[in-house]
Amino acid sequence: MSVVVLISGRGSNLQALLEAGVPVSAVISNRADAKGLQIAAARGAATQVLEHRGFATREAFDDALAAKIDEFTPRLVALAGFMRLLTPAFTQRFAGRIMNIHPSLLPAFQGLDTHARALAAGVKLHGCTVHFVTPELDSGPIVIQAAVAVRAGDTADALASRVLRQEHVIYPRAVRWFLEGRLVIEGSAVRVKGNDAQLIFAAD
Ligand code: GRF
Repeated sequence: MSVVVLISGRGSNLQALLEAGVPVSAVISNRADAKGLQIAAARGAATQVLEHRGFATREAFDDALAAKIDEFTPRLVALAGFMRLLTPAFTQRFAGRIMNIHPSLLPAFQGLDTHARALAAGVKLHGCTVHFVTPELDSGPIVIQAAVAVRAGDTADALASRVLRQEHVIYPRAVRWFLEGRLVIEGSAVRVKGNDAQLIFAAD
């Protein structure tokens, strides 16, 4: 029934998962200085550090990471600000049971610096997405999205913080659906049994 969460930094999404009561059996970071490790420890979650720098190749790191994850026999692997490109072998090994939270309305703005890019593009609607992870970056079946209006005069930081608030709403919801066995992947789409809303419009 448990979830292994992979992080690299701040850990606010990890915190949201823990506060929502998600059963996290371990938090694994590829950086020893990730703030999220303290959040995990403060809440009694097991923590592990696997530094990618010690590995000669991306494949070798991903193999070691997969072995470490398997020690906890999780039902789900949740990426929460895990700043590593994953090999196809890794994503295929966990296919259908690995999720990510991305700070844009995918498929718009895959990759980094999403908020600044959204502002530069002049979009009026931005947001965040929880999706299953597939070999192609930021492209897997979409579980839930939250939409945030872009305001006149928004800065990337202001927009990021409004989007982040919504990340903390949708990620625990998506994980709970998964653990309840309610997510059905149908091609590149995801259906939620019970028809709960898979789109949220942020009020602020
Ligand atoms: C979030 O914006 C998430 O969408 C992205 O990385 C950031 C991680 O933030 N993938 P945090 O570590 O969860 O605070």
